[in-house]
Amino acid sequence: MNGHRTVALIVAAGRGERSGSALPKQFASVAGRPMVAHSHAALSGHPAIDHVLVVTGADQAEALEAALGPVPHVAGGATRRLSVLAGLEAFAATGGADRVLIHDAARPFLNADVIDRLLSALDAAPGAVPVLPVADTVARAVGDALGEVVPRGELVRVQTPQAFDFSAILAAHRGWAAQGEPTDDAQLLRAAGGKVVPVMGDNMLEKVTYPGDFAAAEVRAAARFRVRSATGYDVHRLEVGEELWLGGIRIPHDRGLSGHSDADVGLHALTDALLGTIGAGDIGTHFPPSDPQWKGAASDRFLVHAADLIRAKGGIIDFVDLTLICEAPKIGPHREAIRTRIADLLVLSEDQVSIKATTTERLGFTGRGEGIAAQAIATVRIPEAG
Ligand code: CTP
Ligand code: MG
Repeated sequence: MNGHRTVALIVAAGRGERSGSALPKQFASVAGRPMVAHSHAALSGHPAIDHVLVVTGADQAEALEAALGPVPHVAGGATRRLSVLAGLEAFAATGGADRVLIHDAARPFLNADVIDRLLSALDAAPGAVPVLPVADTVARAVGDALGEVVPRGELVRVQTPQAFDFSAILAAHRGWAAQGEPTDDAQLLRAAGGKVVPVMGDNMLEKVTYPGDFAAAEVRAAARFRVRSATGYDVHRLEVGEELWLGGIRIPHDRGLSGHSDADVGLHALTDALLGTIGAGDIGTHFPPSDPQWKGAASDRFLVHAADLIRAKGGIIDFVDLTLICEAPKIGPHREAIRTRIADLLVLSEDQVSIKATTTERLGFTGRGEGIAAQAIATVRIPEAG
């Protein structure tokens, strides 16, 4: 598989007329983001995919940029087929590709394992599509009466993305001369004599077509997340001659925390809590104290790195809570500044961040002012794989 140039095309040039949505449905919000943003993130983030191109309506470039920011895109056509063709021709004009995935923007929830199955199936055939079995009884409707039952054992529902040998699907599209409009690309490859193999599809890939499908998509999106909480704990020694960095801000004090980085115990505890939610080890795993590049480093980059790792998994940070344990300085006067700083670093609103402080009644190392301790808990939602 290595060495292939694999590209992906998202068709998002439709009007969504059946959906009842005010905006073309691919730009309407689903699970908190414009619909097209979900599959764009999944395809762009997949390690086997080199380039993602969006096909959008000639008059939809602005809406696309509002949804995704500036991303490569080309103008589509009057039908889905013509939109796909426009995308394939754009790739052909810019160096081509070995393999292409063609995906409907109207199927927002694309899991990486579907992509993996499609790409491995392409080793044996020029086309591969995700399919699901048909569970309902299927019958012909003849006028106002039910006609014969169609044996459902031999039927499947065909989804996207569909994966193809690039030259084969390009030739099939260029050569299409049949009547009628194909609703997917596998039909074109088959008409050109190419073999298309099925792989296991995914309920998450259900297409948003009719008004009720938006609510169903929200339910599917919510169901794919698992809530996880994890804690973090850290201690650093207080010493004369050091700056005091605590919770991402500098606090004037007669002593400061010592350690390899800026020794911000608050951010360290929080970083460990976030890393814990994805089982990604601890701060030392990612930023070893033995590595000179982290000497004196600002701890905010450790925290941002942990948040980035969670978001790269499609995760959402719901809440963080930090307790600073020290006799001095008094945290109360700085509490709001710390809260604002941590909310900024994690791109959260302030009501998702809680900062608390306590003394230990002059007992123990914190009570004697020898050091500061911090403990944190983070709650995140992580999408379930598959
Ligand atoms: N599509 C496209 N160009 C078209 C028509 C459709 O790129 N001329 C895309 C849609 O944006 C969608 C996918 O093809 O992502 C599947 O099409 P469909 O579900 O039919 O979407 P719409 O055509 O937008 O919806 P409708 O048919 O209800 O108008
Ligand atoms: Mg359509």
